Amino acid sequence: MQKIRDLEAIGEPKTRREIPLTRPSVGEQELEEIRGVLESGWLAQGPKVKEFERQLAMRFGAKYVVATSSCTTSLSLAIDALGLKSAGEVIVPDFTFPATGNVAVRAGSKPVLVDVDATTYAIDTSAMKTAITRRTTAIIPVHPFGHPFEMDEVYEIADKHGIAVIEDAATAFGTKYKGRLVGSSGKAVCFSFHPRKLLTTAEGGCLVTDDKGLYERAVAMRSHGQVTEKDGRVRFLYNGLNYRMSDVHAAIGIAQLSRIDSIIGSRRRQAEVYGDLLRSSKLDVRVPTEESWAYHTYQSYVVVLGSSLPGNEKLSPRLKKKFGVETQVGTYSLGVQPSFKHSISKGTLAVSKKLYRRSLTLPLFESLSEEEQAYVVDSLKAASRL
Ligand SMILES: Cc1ncc(COP(=O)(O)O)c(C=O)c1O
Repeated sequence: MQKIRDLEAIGEPKTRREIPLTRPSVGEQELEEIRGVLESGWLAQGPKVKEFERQLAMRFGAKYVVATSSCTTSLSLAIDALGLKSAGEVIVPDFTFPATGNVAVRAGSKPVLVDVDATTYAIDTSAMKTAITRRTTAIIPVHPFGHPFEMDEVYEIADKHGIAVIEDAATAFGTKYKGRLVGSSGKAVCFSFHPRKLLTTAEGGCLVTDDKGLYERAVAMRSHGQVTEKDGRVRFLYNGLNYRMSDVHAAIGIAQLSRIDSIIGSRRRQAEVYGDLLRSSKLDVRVPTEESWAYHTYQSYVVVLGSSLPGNEKLSPRLKKKFGVETQVGTYSLGVQPSFKHSISKGTLAVSKKLYRRSLTLPLFESLSEEEQAYVVDSLKAASRL
């Protein structure tokens, strides 16, 4: 009761609600698919994973898809299957989820952290260029929050230096670069199917490529390094681990794939609504940019708080406690995390560090109504004044 009176004193919004950051778009179709798998008696990686991989490959216009237990394991698989030399340097953007850098560390490489572009929040290609040394073995650029990175520039620089590129497309299902779907580059592209992503399998991921050798090594390494010879004999060629997806998870993915275009469509409409609401609120925030060459899917709707507003550390708990609105930092600056203290930081990483303090992810999910979006923006306005 006290809380509601507090809100009324501010003048907006009047009725407290509970709005989560995300709510996955799952329903009857997913339940039916899961039931089918449970009844079939085959639960581990099997026919459903094969079917999911086939449908994904068709969608991406790619030759091969290897479904995995997460995006993290698909990134690791890509590093192993590409045979990246350990003790090399791997360039990663500083502003990303730690998995992007952790996979390099776990492969015995040193992450070289470079700053990001202040508009797209993707790797700054000039900073990337200056970070290349004789020891660089790979670049793991990230497509941030559903917006693509500058793919032509990244690939041109990497090709010139003979460096591998592993695309961290965890958040980029349905994202397009110059009209082409992320996943269609033919190289090594890794997606996440975590519940905060546009397409979910509960937990899961995949590696997409056109490279037959990479695909064959990845398939073996996904499952203990095992290959089945023509005569049916099993041999272990690599010291692979178990990165497999189960048929239960793949079944959820198959149901999701049939609805993904409408999920993406509603997200883009909701992003427009947020943009209109935020602009008319006159709040000192930067709304996400969609470059002319980009098709943004808004996996996360991330605003950047202007200098007249408190930082995310203050605003986020205030929004939850006073208004029931769950928000989160956009993503992390790796350079300031204790686990990356042995990395190489290229320059001051000023943009990334600022985004780490000032970015805020607003709630966004298919069933979020316009009215709820207005409540989120009103709450943000009121919380900024407290
Ligand atoms: C950029 C990026 N890379 C990798 C990951 C890891 O994905 P997963 O949870 O599927 O391993 C995430 C997760 O949010 C991410 O945002």
